[in-house]
Amino acid sequence: MVAPLSRAALRDILAFYREAGVDDALDDEAPDRRLSAAKLREAAARKPEPVAAPVVPAPEPEPPPSSLERALFDAVPDRPAATVAVPDEGQVRLARELAAEARTLEELRERMAAFEGCNLRYTAKQLVFCDGNPQADLMLVGEAPGRDEDIEGRPFVGRSGQLLDRMLAAIGRDRRSAYIANVIPWRPPGNRTPTPQETEICRPFIERQIELVGPKVLVTLGGPSSKTLLNATEGVLRLRGTWRQHATADGRAIPAMPTLHPAYLLRNPAHKKLAWRDFLEVKARLRALG
Ligand code: URA
Repeated sequence: MVAPLSRAALRDILAFYREAGVDDALDDEAPDRRLSAAKLREAAARKPEPVAAPVVPAPEPEPPPSSLERALFDAVPDRPAATVAVPDEGQVRLARELAAEARTLEELRERMAAFEGCNLRYTAKQLVFCDGNPQADLMLVGEAPGRDEDIEGRPFVGRSGQLLDRMLAAIGRDRRSAYIANVIPWRPPGNRTPTPQETEICRPFIERQIELVGPKVLVTLGGPSSKTLLNATEGVLRLRGTWRQHATADGRAIPAMPTLHPAYLLRNPAHKKLAWRDFLEVKARLRALG
């Protein structure tokens, strides 16, 4: 039987959740997202041999638990100790192998849905793989799904997506003539910025997705997507509007236009004219490519 918590303890827990970025309760029952013992064994078997570990000083002794920690501990029923998958080099390698072996977009989607090596999948509601037409000659890639995308399972369906639809319409396109995806296919909790490790783990999947779609022109939306896919280091305000190339693993160079992210444009509407120019460039390039 779980002991009831005091009002003060409940207030502390809610404050903690708020700081940790928990902004919605999706289910009445908390799902157990921890790995099963079998999955843990599988993950351990995939790990590379440990390299000589640096000498780490002995940890400070743990301070005694605070009254809040004791209350939280008492409130949690006994369960076996659990571990979640932590991004590491082994997972990046595994993601590369899985992505490279996917022969079709559907196979890639299945492999990504089954991939357990990225922490974000444990807090996201579902995989957000793509929207639009895989036969399209134009592909757009954003950063990561937000709350609306996490709920619907499709990229760019919230306010940013509505603006993106208007940007596409301005060059005579819609989701039947464009393909849309994200570098990160799982919503980061509280919409936080994905870590560099999370990006490296997800990179092989989006690179393979681009390779399988094979668009004539790629548009990278915002700084993170542009830097990740165009091997660039400049800020997006410098990068945008300049033609780049996205190099695929099978040796193709896809013309790529970095531009401003719709979420940024919602906050900085005066910059919409810059994105407008970029989209006109894209339209002209697609026309020239036939
Ligand atoms: N922002 C993104 O980068 N991608 C989405 O799918 C939604 C918002």
